[in-house]
Amino acid sequence: EDMAQINPSILSADFARLAEEAQAVEGADWLHIDVMDNHFVPNLTLGLPVVESLRKATDTPLDCHLMIEDPDRWAPAYAEAGAGSVTFHAEAATAPIRLAREIRAQGARASMALRPATPIEPFEDLLPELDMILVMTVEPGFGGQAFLDVTLPKIRRTRELIARHGLPLWLQVDGGVSAATIERCAEAGADVFVAGSAVYGAEDPAAAVRGLREQAER
Ligand code: DX5
Ligand code: ZN
Repeated sequence: EDMAQINPSILSADFARLAEEAQAVEGADWLHIDVMDNHFVPNLTLGLPVVESLRKATDTPLDCHLMIEDPDRWAPAYAEAGAGSVTFHAEAATAPIRLAREIRAQGARASMALRPATPIEPFEDLLPELDMILVMTVEPGFGGQAFLDVTLPKIRRTRELIARHGLPLWLQVDGGVSAATIERCAEAGADVFVAGSAVYGAEDPAAAVRGLREQAER
């Protein structure tokens, strides 16, 4: 099948050993960094200074997923800090077109995330402004949650919209992605797979990345 990208989420790593944990998954396509502000989601993780330090600790490009309020104010700084991809939430952005343009102007890929109950259809006309759509497959906030099957039709509809417009967008899924669920996501049209517990909970995280990629491309 098509090329699949696997992005380990450091949310499931040991935060006291982030550099080593980042290096443990070299060979992964991107390192997924979950930024949470305790307002948009009921959890608090890390911010800009940690992203700046991780940038120097690994050659793997950084995929920053901002689960924060007011991304209009904060997101461009993540691109400036060295993130290669910056994802803001559709539910939180006030001016998503301006925001996506600001992220791209910093040289990063601009991406927009949808919570499980947020439809893609109202955002159809925004697709050319974006490099990726993230369809959340759990309610954002925590690692280790069960994959929500109800999101599969939206993954399929998002892939259809992207194809209908002939756009090069990537389609990312995040939440509960594992050996048990990744094939369903790939079949529905996802091509970028975030995996937290399925990678960092494994005996050999780098091997888990290779296993997931092989399964997604099957
Ligand atoms: C959840 C985060 C995810 C999380 C995924 O809000 O956005 O990136 O780390 O963890 P798993 O793969 O364990 O569901
Ligand atoms: Zn995430």
